[in-house]
Amino acid sequence: MQAIEGTEKGSFPPKIRRTAPKTAIHLAGQIRHNPAMARIFCVANQKGGVGKTTTAVNLSVAIAKAGQRTLLVDLDPQCNATSGVGLKPAASHPLLLEQPLSESLVDTAWKDLKLLPGSRNFSDVDRLEGEQGDAAILKQHLDAGMNAFDFVLIDCPPSLGQLTQAALSASTEVLMPIQCEFYAMEGLTQMIHVIRDVMRRGDGRLTFGGILLTMYDPSLELTHEVDAEVREFFGDIVFETVIPRDVSVSEAPSHGVSVMDYSPRSRGSRAYLELCMEVLERD
Ligand SMILES: Nc1ncnc2c1ncn2[C@@H]1O[C@H](COP(=O)(O)OP(=O)(O)OP(=O)(O)O)[C@@H](O)[C@H]1O
Ligand SMILES: [Mg+2]
Repeated sequence: MQAIEGTEKGSFPPKIRRTAPKTAIHLAGQIRHNPAMARIFCVANQKGGVGKTTTAVNLSVAIAKAGQRTLLVDLDPQCNATSGVGLKPAASHPLLLEQPLSESLVDTAWKDLKLLPGSRNFSDVDRLEGEQGDAAILKQHLDAGMNAFDFVLIDCPPSLGQLTQAALSASTEVLMPIQCEFYAMEGLTQMIHVIRDVMRRGDGRLTFGGILLTMYDPSLELTHEVDAEVREFFGDIVFETVIPRDVSVSEAPSHGVSVMDYSPRSRGSRAYLELCMEVLERD
């Protein structure tokens, strides 16, 4: 695929090579989703603080509320997804235990949602992220734990290391939140190279499931500029739903609940429900 030239510091709009519009065509895998298989979303963007965890938590709760058997996998050593659903990190990382992954799954407050908790255990994180880490073994381990679900959402750390690569290779769809901010597109070239590499090396089931615009503030001109650039470049894979900047969304995790539970009438709650419907319809 053609290169994206990310934003250069101090310049806007982003410098995007216009010879490759509608990147969806280049990115979308040829093989569409097999309905007999779980839909496994890798929620990834190597940029920090763009709304990966917020999206993984709220979307997985929304999908579970829709009656689908859902698993939220916390692959980030920060363990924000684990605390976001009101639970505690595991003492040792489930991906490094001898026992089957299914034995490490824990119940959540939502009937149809289970969690594979993250762990902050320093030496485990070092082993997973460091040179000894092996994305292929991690993928095998992940694969084995996900077959009892309709939907799996994997919350990735803000890096392109072993954990993100394992998550990508175990997934059927990449879901990339992009924050509507000045450097939104910066660094995406690298991320897209890694995704395409996994698509090439993997079993061909990974597709680019969607790009989600987060922390959307329609009162800002910048938001509209980022929105237009992202949609022009990525085409149909950008979700129609956008997630507004909303204080309820940022407050909900401190109560260990989703925004739909914390503030059902808020704009954030409505947006995540809408996103859930769009995801279910896109199958
Ligand atoms: N729609 C929103 N409105 C307001 N605040 C938001 C929204 N989405 C996310 N936030 C806040 O922005 C911060 C970053 O969000 P989040 O933790 O989901 O990003 P992340 O991509 O997972 O970060 P990291 O890369 O560190 O894992 C959090 O404090 C979160 O509460
Ligand atoms: Mg996070």
